[in-house]
Formats: sequence, C-alpha cells, structure tokens
Amino acid sequence: MKEWTTQERYRVLKDASEIKDLYDRIQASDYRQTYHIQPITGLSSDPNGFIYHKGTWHLYYQWCPWGAVHGLKYWYHTSSKDLVHWQNEGVGIHPDTIYDNKGVHSGSGFSTDEKLYLFYTGNHRDENWVRTPYTCLAQLTEDGQLVKQPEPLFGPHPDYTEHQRDPKVVYHEANQTYYILLGAQSKDLKGKVLIYSSKELLQGWTFAGELRVPGYEDLGGMWECPSIARIGDKDVLVFSPQYTTLPHRGPSTNHNIYLIGQMDYENLTFQADGDYRHLDYGFDFYAAQFAANVKEEDKAILTAWMGLPDNHYPTEEEDWEGSLVLPRELRIVDGRLLQRPVPQLSQLRKEKVNPNGYLPRVAELEINNHGQDAQLQLFCKADGTGGLSIRYDASNQTCTIDRSQMDLRFNEAIGEVLDVPLERALADLRIFIDRSSVEIFFNGGEATFSSHLYPSAEENRYQLSPNLSLGMWTLKPSVTDDFRV
Ligand code: FRU
Repeated sequence: MKEWTTQERYRVLKDASEIKDLYDRIQASDYRQTYHIQPITGLSSDPNGFIYHKGTWHLYYQWCPWGAVHGLKYWYHTSSKDLVHWQNEGVGIHPDTIYDNKGVHSGSGFSTDEKLYLFYTGNHRDENWVRTPYTCLAQLTEDGQLVKQPEPLFGPHPDYTEHQRDPKVVYHEANQTYYILLGAQSKDLKGKVLIYSSKELLQGWTFAGELRVPGYEDLGGMWECPSIARIGDKDVLVFSPQYTTLPHRGPSTNHNIYLIGQMDYENLTFQADGDYRHLDYGFDFYAAQFAANVKEEDKAILTAWMGLPDNHYPTEEEDWEGSLVLPRELRIVDGRLLQRPVPQLSQLRKEKVNPNGYLPRVAELEINNHGQDAQLQLFCKADGTGGLSIRYDASNQTCTIDRSQMDLRFNEAIGEVLDVPLERALADLRIFIDRSSVEIFFNGGEATFSSHLYPSAEENRYQLSPNLSLGMWTLKPSVTDDFRV
C-alpha cells in the first residue's frame, strides 16, 4: 500500500493534463463499473448536491484526484435526465478560496425552481493544521458556471468541536423559514445535529439550536451527513453515526441509519416513532443523501457512497476506488421504509440469459424463494467452491452473507460475514451486479445489502438451492467514463 505524504494528498490540481496518464491507466482496470457512478481517477466518497432542477438530475461526489486516498476534496459533477444514464460534467466545486483551502466537503443542493444553489462545507486549515469548518454557498448558473458567494454563511459554533459540517438545506412551508441541518460533535464527544435558520435563503442565517432526538442522546461520537425528507405524512431523518459499534454491523464503527417520525421545526425536535434501522446491511454503504426537489409526496430518492471511512479497497493498487450506490426510491409501508432501485433501471436490461451456471460480470438477477431455508453462491468457481455465500435460515428469518471465501479479500477487520434480519419470510431477492459491486434488495426492498466485491477470472459461476428460481439479465452500460475535468 502506498504511503502518502500530506503534501501529496493535498496537492492542488492545476491542470487536467496532470491526471491524464492516471486516467488512461485506470481505464484498463478489470473492475471499472459500467452503470454506477465512479471517480474518473482517484477516490470518490459521499454523494453531494443531489437535486432535480429544470429537467436534469445533478449529482456530485466527493473527489480526491490523485489516488485512492482521502486528501484535498473537490465536488465532481455528474448529470442525468433519468437517474440511470449519467454523464461526466467535470469538477463542480474547486477548493480555491481561503475558506476551503483544504477541501470542499459535503453538502446539499437547493432549487428555487429558477436558480440552483449548492451549500457545502469549506474545510479550512491554518499553518498549524488547526481546522475551521465554514458553511458556504455557491450558485450553478444557467450556463454551467459555478459562482461562489465570497463570504461563508457562518463559521463554526464555539460550543462544539471542529467537527461541524455537511449542510442539508430545507424549506419549511408552515413557518416560511429555511433550515440548515449540520452534522456535529459536542465537546463531550457525542454525535449531534445543529440547526441554523433564516427567513432568506442566501443570507441572515443564525444558530437556532441543537436538534433534540429523544432516545438518541448517546449514539456515537459524530453524526456525519444528516439528511431529511418528508414521505407522505412522515419525516425520515438519516445520518451516519461514527465511533461506535452497532448490532448487525460487525466490528465496523461507521454506520448509516434512519429514523421515521415527525420533525418539529418550532421546537427543534425529531420525535422518532420507533427504533432506528440500518439503511443498508452491507459492508459498504455510508453518507446517504436524499435528492432535493423531488416533488412527489409519497416517495423520496436517495443514494449513498458505496464505501466506508477508514477502509481500503483492492483497486487502491490501481490508484482509484469508490462508487455510488444505485439511486433508490423510498416509500413508507406499514411504518417502515421500502427501498427499491429506481424503476427506470429496467431500461438497462439487455438480454435475458438462460440460466446455465455462469454468472455474467454485469447482470440483474430476480430470485424467488419457493421453500424455507435457501442457499445461493455467487461468484463461485467451477467446482462450486468460493464466492459470496447468501444463506437464508427460515427459523430466524435471517440471511447471512459471507464474503470470506472470495479470492480477493479486503477490509477483513470489519468482518466478512454479516446478517440481514428480515421482517417476513424470504420471498424474493433482486440483485444488481456490476464489475466490482453487488446490491441486494430483499422482499421488495424491506432490507438492502450493498458491497464492493472484486471477483477473479475463475469466480464466474453461481449455484442455487433447488427451492430458488432465477431470472437473469445482462445489462447495458449507462455511465460515461470520459475524461472531463
Ligand atoms: C463523510 C465525510 C463528511 C465530510 C466528507 C469529507 O464521509 O467525512 O462528513 O464532509 O466526508 O470528504
């Protein structure tokens, strides 16, 4: 593994030509995704500024150009008309002011229908590497220019640590006020959400207080990337708590959870209806963000980083890593979220494959369970050994997913076996396979599992227990991979 100096990680990209060779080399990788957003070079992490505006979906990702390392972050811009076909647009926001001299960190978009605004964290560090996070604003103009507001909206609150970032902007119609939710850490090292409010979108922001989330005063040491959406008559709060382990997540200390309940903006309280749940049970899912301006009352759209902080992936050797998960539609049914890949994805189906034991490298699988216990091996070898094993135990309605038999193992420290507890008996699985990832939707989306995976050439078969029936399609590529910087 390459050791990066601070200077190398925080090098400013001055000209696209500086990464052209890297881009050319990465193109040859066997693990480049074909219908998932991924970095043109280097590392991609959180989704940012996900928004529908004037007929186009905009989606940015945290980008470090130089390699698979967290360093100086840019927002890289992609756009789509249908949430399926994405094109590269080049860098969205550069770290080029004193307020973001060490990175343009995560944030969200806001559309007034006329204008598109991006709210982000300016990650400033002084010469002693002391950090000051600023909440900043930029406008994306009609002709694609990014115009930063010269001064930040506000700086850090003195009663919290340096960890204050990831603005999520919402407008609350009832009291005609704009709110920013900010992920934060209290001085006694607890995860928090801070709330700022303003009557105007572009100015006048003041600290309103800390969000109370009764029952969640003690969950983790930092809540990254808060995001909120109204679905029907409920609010859904998602965030990524860190520095704690949680049930069903093995030894990992990075998570992404949701609460369903009511957001009371007057009293700055989120009253959850019940316990939190994991947004996804897989190894690689973090920093999820709702798309803004969806305009349909009964659903929300969400994507996330397919990856985790503090982890490393085999393509690090090739100087790139990361992907976003497929955009999902979220609905609330019987008090819990159902998550489904956006329906437009069915356009990608190319050919129905006659099940013959071979697993294409890019495929969608629909599997139905006609019995009780079930077992599925993906990416096993000709002799049936190895691969990713998915085992369903009907006695406790749990799927156990084990990646420890894959040839290429990674991130063993966060565990290689995870359980997915289901509410109902396993009836169906929908599985999306790309060249270095797998996403599984259980029982019409009552639980999901997203992970990177790096099959070797011999890991090209599958096996199913007899009570499982399979439909399988190859998929067309839908994400451009051209060199736009
Ligand atoms: C989450 C996060 C955010 C931050 C960004 C920096 O992965 O740590 O809190 O804004 O990444 O890249």
